[in-house]
This record gives sequence, structure tokens and C-alpha cells, in this order.
Amino acid sequence: MSETVMTGVYLSNHPVILDKMALLREKNTPPREFRRLLHEISLLLGYEAMRDLPGIKRTIETPLTVTEAEVLAVKPLFVPILRAGIGMVEAMLQLVPDGGVGHIGLYRDHDTLLPVEYYVKLPKDLRGMHAFMLDPMLATGGSAAYTAEILMERGVDQITMISLVSAPPGINRLKVSCPEVRIFTAALDPELNDRGYIVPGLGDAGDRLYGTEGWS
Ligand code: PRP
Ligand code: URA
Repeated sequence: MSETVMTGVYLSNHPVILDKMALLREKNTPPREFRRLLHEISLLLGYEAMRDLPGIKRTIETPLTVTEAEVLAVKPLFVPILRAGIGMVEAMLQLVPDGGVGHIGLYRDHDTLLPVEYYVKLPKDLRGMHAFMLDPMLATGGSAAYTAEILMERGVDQITMISLVSAPPGINRLKVSCPEVRIFTAALDPELNDRGYIVPGLGDAGDRLYGTEGWS
């Protein structure tokens, strides 16, 4: 259940997601709860984001007869942006256990707010693949755009971003790098503060996920 808020941007308005998002944003929610909520919301968003994955007919045998059934034609590639995207991977693999996983390690420089790369590990050949970028936060969009550019250079066919909280500058930045991207999000927050944090947002997703300091 999501509404199209602009071309290629799908905002979930399901009451169960909204309820979980309220708890996730709460500043007193501890890392244990934060991780669980992030997982559950990712599962619900991922389910929606994968609704157009192509299927292919297979002949299968039930205990009663032989019949045709549809299975996924191509397994998706899940691309968590470290650190916080790691908290979303398990949900995706619960949905598609045979999906691939490629890791992109980036952190945002505190002064420039630009992404700094420290780790990239992807399958060799990405041609024809549908990549799902995973990051709870789409703020300036620098990290997502950087990741999309790596994936496009390596030949991915289609990119979908799954983020929990998105802000307009991030959406616009990502669309500049990857005009065809689809973005599935659980919240569209209005602005960034002067340190590039989404407001109202939820603070620093990586710090809240892993209990490290500095998000308030
Ligand atoms: C956070 C978040 C995104 C990025 C979003 O990561 O998880 O990757 O910031 O901001 P942007 O849209 O302005 O690029 P961060 O750089 O704090 O790294 P971390 O997950 O290791 O804490
Ligand atoms: N990264 C985060 O973790 N939170 C924000 O609000 C912005 C970037």
C-alpha cells in the first residue's frame, strides 16, 4: 500500500508501517528495539518494492498433479550501504533467500557531507541485474548517488532504492545520477538541518542501530 508522490517515488502509507516508524523515530528507543523495527519495516517495504519482479512459468508437481507455477525469473541483488544498510539485509533475504548481496562501504565526511568510500564488494558481472540499494536514510543523496553510479558503471539493468526516511534533496540528487531509479520509502521528511541530518528524521541511523554515540 503506497502512493506515488512523484515519478518513481512511492511513499508507504500503511498504518502498520506508520506505527512502527513512530517507534523507530522515538529518541528513547534502544538499539535492540531499533534493530527489530528497522528489520520489520524493511520487510514490509521490500515486499512492496519487489512487486514488479518478473516471473517465469515452471512445470511443478504437486502431490495431486502436474501444473504450471510462476517463480522469480531473475534473482535480485541487494546492496546495503554500510553501516546502516546492513540492518536491512536480513529482511530482504527473508523475502528472497536466493538473492545476491553486494556491499558498499561509505561514510559521510562531517564537513563536506560527501561520501567517502572504504569498501566495495560486488558480484563480478552485474549485467542484466535488478539492484535494490538499501539504506535507511536518504538525506543529501550523496551516498545513494555514489552507489548508483558504481552499480551503473558495472552494468546493472535496473536500480530500486529502499529507504525508510527520505528528504527532497536526497531524492533529487539520486534522480540526477540515475533518472530511472525507483524509490520506495516509509517517510518523506521536509528538510535537512545545517549538519545534513534529516528533520524530524531519526538521528544517525548507524549510531542508533549499533549503539555508538553522537546521534542526538
Ligand atoms: C548515513 C546513512 C546514509 C547516509 C545518508 O550514513 O546511513 O548512508 O548517511 O546521507 P546522505 O544522503 O547525505 O549521503 P553515515 O555516512 O552516517 O555512515 P554510517 O552508516 O557508517 O554511520
Ligand atoms: N544520515 C543519518 O544517519 N541520518 C540523517 O538524518 C542523515 C544522514
